[in-house]
Amino acid sequence: MPRGVAQSLGREPRTVTLVRPDDWHLHLRDGAVLQSVILDSARQFGRAIIMPNLKPPVLTTADAQAYRDRILAALRQAGAPAGSFEPLMTLYLTDRTAPDEIRRAKDSGLVHGVKLYPAGATTHSDAGVTDLLRHCRATLDAMQDCGMPLLVHGEVTDPEVDLFDREAVFIDRVMLPLRQAYPALKVVFEHLTTAEGVAYVREAPGPVAATITAHHLLYNRNALFKGGLRPHWYCLPVLKRERHRLALLDAATSGEARFFLGTDSAPHAKGAKEQDCGCAGCYTARHAMALYVSAFDAAGRLDRLEAFASLNGPAFYGLPPNAGTLTLEQVPEQIPASLPLADAEVVPLAAGESLAWRLRAE
Ligand code: DOR
Ligand code: ZN
Repeated sequence: MPRGVAQSLGREPRTVTLVRPDDWHLHLRDGAVLQSVILDSARQFGRAIIMPNLKPPVLTTADAQAYRDRILAALRQAGAPAGSFEPLMTLYLTDRTAPDEIRRAKDSGLVHGVKLYPAGATTHSDAGVTDLLRHCRATLDAMQDCGMPLLVHGEVTDPEVDLFDREAVFIDRVMLPLRQAYPALKVVFEHLTTAEGVAYVREAPGPVAATITAHHLLYNRNALFKGGLRPHWYCLPVLKRERHRLALLDAATSGEARFFLGTDSAPHAKGAKEQDCGCAGCYTARHAMALYVSAFDAAGRLDRLEAFASLNGPAFYGLPPNAGTLTLEQVPEQIPASLPLADAEVVPLAAGESLAWRLRAE
C-alpha cells in the first residue's frame, strides 16, 4: 500500500495524508480581492510563492515587504491562526532592476525569487522584460552570485509564433542561452505545459526545476471549447494537446525532484473573463489539493503526491518541509458555481462539477 494512503476499512472513506504542502506559484492580488481569497490557500498550504504582478508591480524589497505585511494583515482579519501560512515574496523583474536591489532582497530574507514576465506575455506583464540577455545581465549576475532563483514565465511574445508553440520556442530562444550564460543560476520554469518543456527540465544542466498546475494535469485544450467557448478554462500558458497533458502527468507523478506543485491560481472577476476580450487565469485555490489528488489518483500514483506537493519544492528553495500534515478523504464534493470576490464573484475552475476528493475537516 502506498505511503500515506489508507485503505477503505468498512465504510470509512479512503484518505491520503501528506506533510503539509506548499504552493510554489500563487496570485493573491491585493486589497479586497486578497481578503476574499487568502483563506482558500491558507487552509491547505503552509507557504506560497506570491506572484508580484500587481498594478503597479512589486519592484523593490520595500514593495515586497509592504505587500507581505498586507497579506499577513488579511490573514489575521480572516481569522487564520498566527504563523499558519507564510507568504514567500518575489520581485517583478524589469529591464531596469538594479543588482543592488537583488542583494537587498536576498538580505531581507523575505524575498525568495525574482519573476521574469516577458513584456506582453500575460496579465499585468506590460512592465516586464523586453530582452533578458541584453538588459538584465548585471542583475542576473547578482542573482546567480547570491542564490536568488529566477522564476520564468516561459513563453515568447513574438506575434509570429503560434500561441501553442510559445513555450517550446522560448526554450530555444531564451532558456538555452540563459543556462549557458548563467550555469549556476537557479531557475524555475513556471507552469510548465508541454512535453518539450518536460524534456528540457529533465535534462537541463544545473539547478533547474518546474512547477505544474492542477489544471494542466487534469485538462487538455478541448476543455476550452467543450460545448462552446469556455472562458474559465482560459489561462496562459494556454491548455495544450492531450500528449502534453500526459507528459506533465508523467513528470509530476515521477517523484523526480525537479517537479513540484504550483497552482497558478489567478482570480479574475466573472465579468472580466466573460467578455469580448476575457482575462487569462483560472481560479483553483479553493479546491487545489482535491484537484491534485484527483489527478494523482487517476494516474494510480497517490504514493508520489507527497514528493511533488510537500518535499521537492522546499528542497529546491533551500527551505525545510513544513511541520504538520494535511489529510484528504475520498468523499465527493461539488465545486460551487461561483465564490465571492470583493464586491463581485469569481467562477472557480470546473464550477458545478463534482470532485471525488475533499479536505478532511481538522
Ligand atoms: O493565466 C494567467 N493568469 N497566466 C499568468 O501568467 C498570469 C495570471 C494572472 O495574473 O492572472
Ligand atoms: Zn502565474
